[in-house]
Amino acid sequence: MRALRRLLIIGSVTGLLLCGGAVAAGAWLWNRAPIDTAGKIDFDTPLAVPPLAPSEIDADGRRVFDLTAAAGSHDFGRDRPTPTWGFNGGYLGPTLRAERGEQVLVNVHNQLSEPTSVHWHGMELPARMDGGPHQPVPADGTWSPTWQVDQPAATLWYHPHPHGQTEKHVYRGLAGMFILDDAPSRELALPQEYGVDDFPVIVQDKKFTGDGQLDDRPGFLSSIGLLGDEVAVNGTVGSYLDVTTERVRLRLLNASTARSYQFGFADGREFQVIGSDGGLLPEPRPANRVMLSPADRAEIVVTMAPGEQTVLRSFPPPLGAGPFGHFLGGDDTLDILQLRAAGELAASPPVPERLAEVPAPDLTEVVQTRSFRFSGTNINGEQMDMDRIDVGVTAGTTEVWEVTNQGGQPHNFHMHGVQFQVVAVDGQEPLADLRGWQDTIYLQPDARHEIAVRFDEHTDPDLPYMYHCHLLLHEDSGMMGQFVVLEPGQSPGSPDSTGHNHG
Ligand code: C2O
Ligand code: CU
Ligand code: CU
Repeated sequence: MRALRRLLIIGSVTGLLLCGGAVAAGAWLWNRAPIDTAGKIDFDTPLAVPPLAPSEIDADGRRVFDLTAAAGSHDFGRDRPTPTWGFNGGYLGPTLRAERGEQVLVNVHNQLSEPTSVHWHGMELPARMDGGPHQPVPADGTWSPTWQVDQPAATLWYHPHPHGQTEKHVYRGLAGMFILDDAPSRELALPQEYGVDDFPVIVQDKKFTGDGQLDDRPGFLSSIGLLGDEVAVNGTVGSYLDVTTERVRLRLLNASTARSYQFGFADGREFQVIGSDGGLLPEPRPANRVMLSPADRAEIVVTMAPGEQTVLRSFPPPLGAGPFGHFLGGDDTLDILQLRAAGELAASPPVPERLAEVPAPDLTEVVQTRSFRFSGTNINGEQMDMDRIDVGVTAGTTEVWEVTNQGGQPHNFHMHGVQFQVVAVDGQEPLADLRGWQDTIYLQPDARHEIAVRFDEHTDPDLPYMYHCHLLLHEDSGMMGQFVVLEPGQSPGSPDSTGHNHG
């Protein structure tokens, strides 16, 4: 509700600006320069690499992790530590890592003074293990989901998903990476030694108050939520990575609440994109830009020469929001992370020409096409309702979901429990940067994306998966719907009948 009120306030301020008296203020805001930190960041701190979470194999052969969410503090390089939240530490969380075929179990302890949840973003798993708003972990409570990893090697992540409170929980620091491996990817000649030639790059914009606290007020006129003017990587603003190998793999995760980035290098160098949200691409794609909206991932391999330096930079992202993009980060240039190559680099093999099988969806098998219209903070004119199941799909079938952004606002689209493929954008074949497995795609204003999605065997008529805008203010404001996966012939039940207390 607070989020909704903020939106209304922003709306009325915009309205005021449009009437005569406030034109001067509007002009002033308009002329305010976009944020440009290119060449202005002191990269003076070594990149922090989140530790790999320790795990144990229990008597049932399950790989067991422990995550504890708690309040703490974190050194963002201000005069004093910043109060934050984190998993197993003050800010962010350890990297979980598991192999395809393994049964994992995570004991999630909540030591916050309010309920939270932990959602496994990008994971294909039963709805009751998903960690969405129907699986709250009460203060002082523990939740222990377990599931078998059964999807290709990928860079996934985890973050809270409490109903209406996700933006706050993520912004304060609750997020971490979840890396999946599989046998074929281990055999590829790709950089894959964690912290040596393979690095998580968790990118988050932050705003600080004068006394070094996280400022979580939305930017004036930002209808998408708060946009920070500083960018932290793995929790550090202004860090550098000492590169010791000829090639490094960066697992880029946009863990920001609202900001989209268009990553590239300050010197314009080309890199290879090797992975999307849900795994490796069929073959590497040379690029010098990659755009990530909130929750998106990309894996890239960068080649360095001995002694070289370059800077990972975000160039103004093509939001497609017209002049309003100015207020949504669309004109901002942000220096992110410096790469410093050592005088001598260990040799790395060239990036393999073939990476993974990504079978194209068989569109002759599509049993159903559905449309989803995003506008305001509604999907198909409706607000999220925890007790309403919006869509029932049948396990083992393929559907096309047609997602249209009908407002002038940027949104993005994320589905739980699946990886999908984009088959058309405005009726045309999608650009190369939408190829591969996706769970989150940017929705340009007025664009229509058709995605093919296959629903697998995890059925539950009562407990839904979510689909939503991953701009977290929008998600919290109700831009979310619920789908259940059914056995053939089964009808949707009701989330209430599970007896789950979802407050
Ligand atoms: Cu990243 Cu519904 O979540
Ligand atoms: Cu998700
Ligand atoms: Cu949105």
